[in-house]
Amino acid sequence: MSWSQAKTACIIAFLFITVSTNAASPTSLSTVALSSSSASFSTSAPAPTISSIRDVTSLVNLFVGTTNGGHTFPGATLPHGMVKAGVDTDSPGNHAGYDGDPQFNATGFSQLHDDGTGGAVPLSLFKLWAFHTCGPLDTFEECQTSIAGRKTLRKVLPNGKPDDAAEPGYFSTNLSTGIRVELTSTRRAALHRYTFPSPVVNPRMVVDITNDGQQSSTDPVMTIDPQTGRVMGGASFAASFGPGRFRAFTCVDFKGDNFQLGAPTEFGAWLGNFPVKQSTNLQQLYFGFRDELGALLTFPPHLGQGSTSILARVGVSFISAEQACSNAEEEIPDFNFNAIRTSANAQWNDLLGRIQVSTTNVDPEVVQLFYSSLYRTHISPADYTGENPKWNSTEPYFDSFYCNWDTYRTLYSIMALHDPEDFARIVRGMINIQQHEGWLPECRGATAQHFIQGGSNGDPILAEFFVKFHEHAAALNVSSSALYTALLADAETQSPNWDLQGRQANIWKTLGYIPSDVWEPSGTNTKQVSRTLEYAFDDFAVSQVAKILGNTSDGAKYAQRAGNFINVWNPRTTVPGNETIVGMMQPRFANGTFNFTDPRHCSVHDPLQSTCFLNAANKDGFYEGSPIVVSEYYVPQDTAKLIELQGGANKFIERLNFIFDQNYFDSTDEPSQQIPFMYHYANRPGLSTQRSRQVIAEFYNTSSNGLPGNDGAMGSYVAFYLAGLYPLPATRQFLLSSPYFPQISFTNPIFGKTTTIKATNFKGNPASGTGGTVFIKSVKIDGIPWKSNCFIEWDAFINGSTIELELTNDITIPCGNGIDALPPSLSTGGYD
Ligand SMILES: *[C@@H]1O[C@H](CO)[C@@H](O)[C@H](O)[C@H]1NC(C)=O
Ligand SMILES: *[C@@H]1O[C@H](CO)[C@@H](O)[C@H](O)[C@H]1NC(C)=O
Ligand SMILES: *[C@@H]1O[C@H](CO)[C@@H](O)[C@H](O)[C@H]1NC(C)=O
Ligand SMILES: *[C@@H]1O[C@H](CO)[C@@H](O)[C@H](O)[C@H]1NC(C)=O
Ligand SMILES: *[C@@H]1O[C@H](CO)[C@@H](O)[C@H](O)[C@H]1NC(C)=O
Ligand SMILES: *[C@@H]1O[C@H](CO)[C@@H](O)[C@H](O)[C@H]1NC(C)=O
Ligand SMILES: *[C@@H]1O[C@H](CO)[C@@H](O)[C@H](O)[C@H]1NC(C)=O
Ligand SMILES: *[C@@H]1O[C@H](CO)[C@@H](O)[C@H](O)[C@H]1NC(C)=O
Ligand SMILES: *[C@@H]1O[C@H](CO)[C@@H](O)[C@H](O)[C@H]1NC(C)=O
Ligand SMILES: *[C@@H]1O[C@H](CO)[C@@H](O)[C@H](O)[C@H]1NC(C)=O
Repeated sequence: MSWSQAKTACIIAFLFITVSTNAASPTSLSTVALSSSSASFSTSAPAPTISSIRDVTSLVNLFVGTTNGGHTFPGATLPHGMVKAGVDTDSPGNHAGYDGDPQFNATGFSQLHDDGTGGAVPLSLFKLWAFHTCGPLDTFEECQTSIAGRKTLRKVLPNGKPDDAAEPGYFSTNLSTGIRVELTSTRRAALHRYTFPSPVVNPRMVVDITNDGQQSSTDPVMTIDPQTGRVMGGASFAASFGPGRFRAFTCVDFKGDNFQLGAPTEFGAWLGNFPVKQSTNLQQLYFGFRDELGALLTFPPHLGQGSTSILARVGVSFISAEQACSNAEEEIPDFNFNAIRTSANAQWNDLLGRIQVSTTNVDPEVVQLFYSSLYRTHISPADYTGENPKWNSTEPYFDSFYCNWDTYRTLYSIMALHDPEDFARIVRGMINIQQHEGWLPECRGATAQHFIQGGSNGDPILAEFFVKFHEHAAALNVSSSALYTALLADAETQSPNWDLQGRQANIWKTLGYIPSDVWEPSGTNTKQVSRTLEYAFDDFAVSQVAKILGNTSDGAKYAQRAGNFINVWNPRTTVPGNETIVGMMQPRFANGTFNFTDPRHCSVHDPLQSTCFLNAANKDGFYEGSPIVVSEYYVPQDTAKLIELQGGANKFIERLNFIFDQNYFDSTDEPSQQIPFMYHYANRPGLSTQRSRQVIAEFYNTSSNGLPGNDGAMGSYVAFYLAGLYPLPATRQFLLSSPYFPQISFTNPIFGKTTTIKATNFKGNPASGTGGTVFIKSVKIDGIPWKSNCFIEWDAFINGSTIELELTNDITIPCGNGIDALPPSLSTGGYD
């Protein structure tokens, strides 16, 4: 069953009732809404304590974040699929093609997208379009083939939403022309179905070769086969967040759905709004003056009973148009729309269903928020294996990495829990890129290097894999020595352009920080403080791997470099107007003296209203975070030291509260992501539980405006917040809070084990995130009292343990009394 926006409206209406009463939600209703697998279920039956949700994809709402700048992609794709087929619109926020606001016109149905990015619009390549009638005389020449000429509103539902529906692996919409469009996909091909309202005399199909999201194409090629209607073509396009370009190709075939389509009755190439009948390739046209071009085909309609539905099979390749054809032929041999859709849905159900929640006393919206967030964790990176134009290799090739800066904190830790095989293949692909390009990939899209946001954040991703799966690395075909070599390349070798790959390694090794007044020739002298902190964490990741490999000297060397964050700590800097807040990460010159960046810089309180994004103005040391925020979070490897620098636990708590109370916290930017959980390190886990729940209540819901900004990796950290966990990448620890569910379990196919977290006296979730019986009083693992209320170890997931949480309404309960009750930090004994 597909998830339509109409349904969203009614679930939310229902939620208003349950949320406002703030009582136990009616469990019978929630179980019905959640389609439990129990066949004997009825609204009057008592809810089961443990239910396995078989059809988890029915709980995924793909329209979350499709307005309000979320830039989410609600189209058809497989888990980590290369093809992401969806509708494109003329919205200024069409980074993923779609916009949930019906005032925006549909402009085409293209094959490749990203989810949740900023920058220039990525991909949106090879749009298809259908005409029911062209002009008063319905002639070929009258067809308005350009984007401006063909664009059309979607049908609008009585609730004011566009008539769109989607579920994992499937998307559909009704255009205001009455044409219904449905999309499904395999890894490298899409299958579209266009159903024309009757009567239709000349159903026509457009294949648009050049209009990507940016209209950046050059060097187009295209041929039309007059017998079969096959269109092959491609062009060169601009990358979205970097200086490079890439070539991409397509191959489109048509077939009647339940009728014999036959050869096209008319065909021709078009330029702008001028279709030229009988032309079969671009050499038969004058072009160069227009960058909009493609093919137009007229087919005979279905003359018997039933409507005219035309299937379009669209292969895509980054190698050649011939390979685009073979991809489509292999993956969608018989144009069976329902079989492809069912298979895509089954793959999503298998993957997402490895995490099961029990829903008793849980608002349905929370369950949907969880699975919708988990779903979006598996859109990028994308599996482009076989499509790397740069070198031949038998290793997997992944692309669409966003930037590792976006993902290293939480995305791969979710994969570690339930999707280690894909994680291993991504790691292999990253190592292979290092072997050919010299450094690990950082930002990458459409096979081109993009601009790095943080440090060499591929390092914690490789380390996250190795710390958690080193015993299975060989079985997963990950070479330990190649992995370590790749890490050392980042850590030790100066990059020819640290805007695109690697680090400013030489100066890092000599000074132990990135100075703000040294201009080296091969990258932008910017983000120096943020990069210092990132490099320190990256080196921590290297040290974690070195220790596992038994290389104790490297382990010690990189652990020491992980302490370099202290080199940019200026103990005397204060916040103007709040002078009791003392000590801040600050820009530092090569001679050791500090410069000053106002700690309010880039926050809502910045008197200069600066931004800290990648732009020419960003010269003062920080990236996507004010110094006050960056100084709080950026030492996940040694928070104990940060607390010491800030003057002790009470002072640390005061600063955390200050960040929230004064609105410095910014849920849309990565440096804020861990901050709600930081109270754990001050032995006040209840405050983290409450804060993280308040953040969810304030910023995240299942409405189309339910994300506060570009999705990026938000899905993964929202899923963690709801699971009551927060990962520390490249370590064996997860910070622990209470889940939003009485029970949540994770099945890991590599270990063949299921790990269950149970809240034994779960009483529901407070709607505002404040208060409630949600604080952890004690923890037992496999029946044995556990040393801490604040973190659990990876061992519990290897063992397939049962973790029992006893909850209380007392927010003051500490992590525990033993010295090992606090989560680890380098300066208090480290992570061994
Ligand atoms: C949608 O297209 C129509 C017709 O071209 C146009 O009038 C309208 O302004 C477009 N909507 C938006 C939001 O651009
Ligand atoms: C579109 O119209 C068809 C036929 O009327 C209907 O079955 C479908 O639910 C509508 N909505 C979408 C999003 O497909
Ligand atoms: C990969 O191998 C194919 C077949 O041998 C060859 O045509 C192609 O040029 C190779 N690609 C690269 C980038 O080396
Ligand atoms: C590892 O490589 C071997 C040999 O190429 C292959 O048979 C096996 O399927 C691979 N395993 C995984 C998990 O990729
Ligand atoms: C540790 O790794 C370094 C390379 O960083 C290497 O030179 C050294 O031999 C290794 N030591 C051990 C004990 O493996
Ligand atoms: C910080 O300064 C603001 C603005 O003057 C003030 O409202 C707030 O109370 C101060 N907070 C602290 C903790 O000093
Ligand atoms: C350190 O370097 C900065 C910037 O290059 C300069 O302004 C300052 O005078 C220097 N300080 C000392 C003590 O050399
Ligand atoms: C010190 O910081 C100020 C404010 O950001 C900046 O204008 C100035 O150029 C910096 N000084 C040096 C030597 O980089
Ligand atoms: C959903 O969250 C957004 C902020 O992210 C908020 O503006 C909106 O009001 C929320 N909607 C509902 C129904 O709670
Ligand atoms: C995991 O199992 C091992 C071996 O039985 C045991 O020593 C260890 O304590 C267990 N760890 C956890 C966290 O349950």
